[in-house]
Amino acid sequence: MPDMDDVKQSKQYHTDIPQKAEQFFLKGSDSLEWGMKNRLARIFNAKSGRTVMLAVDHGYFQGPTTGLERIDLDILPLVPYADTLMLTRGVLRSIVPPSMTTPMVVRASGGISMISKELSNEEIAVDIEDAIRMNACALAIQVYIGAEYEKQSILNMTRMVDMGTRYGIPVLAVTAVGRDMVRDARYFRLATRICAELGAHYVKTYYVAEEFETVCASCPVPIVMAGGKKLPELDALTMAYNAVQQGASGVDMGRNIFQSEAPVAMIQAVGAVVHSNETPEKALDLYNTLKNES
Ligand code: R5P
Repeated sequence: MPDMDDVKQSKQYHTDIPQKAEQFFLKGSDSLEWGMKNRLARIFNAKSGRTVMLAVDHGYFQGPTTGLERIDLDILPLVPYADTLMLTRGVLRSIVPPSMTTPMVVRASGGISMISKELSNEEIAVDIEDAIRMNACALAIQVYIGAEYEKQSILNMTRMVDMGTRYGIPVLAVTAVGRDMVRDARYFRLATRICAELGAHYVKTYYVAEEFETVCASCPVPIVMAGGKKLPELDALTMAYNAVQQGASGVDMGRNIFQSEAPVAMIQAVGAVVHSNETPEKALDLYNTLKNES
């Protein structure tokens, strides 16, 4: 029993101060449930409203991608500089130490390989119970608008959204561009909007030089920019800078970080662009300084 002798008689109820009701910082997410918001707040930095996701899930259909041959040696040192790691459950369990508290976004669609005839023929490949068991912070599902298995991939996403909503786990819709699709703002407006309309909590899409701001503006939930194939560092930093300045809520980059000559320096330079609005040129200076220090 606590000692009752020194219980104060004058209690501070602050009857004149209404209880604080904070609006959730993330676009289109204010009406979500507490657990869902809490997970999103671990992925997105509340101060900048943005995220640097490090994508290392390429092996789910590409096998040992260049730069990801040894995730233990090459990727784990980058994790302290990432807001979240996007990976497969196989790599999570086999390589990532459970003591690592960085939020994990787990790839949850699969079923094809890079030598398959049709990449869009994916299915849900992770059970929601396993996502809970792994303490996943979000689940990522590929959506192929305009491809042969468009409907199947959309319904993979809606089923995952139903399951994720039941347990408070956000779903990241990854807009995958089929081999014959044109990568332009018109396509990405269509693809991202369909994903958001059907319940995705945030959407990953590629950057396009023309009208990217219209892709962000017409998507009612946060957009994160995929990196794509390896570019020179300044070009990759410029792309990330333009994306966030034009409305993206961060990046989900893989090859432009882990295939860089100095990945630890590159992820910090990307972080400066995303979280501190650093210009690409200044971020490149930071990259070169950190690279020369290592
Ligand atoms: C692709 O299969 C994965 O979803 C990657 O996470 C995605 O492509 C982002 O990685 P990158 O920046 O290398 O394109």
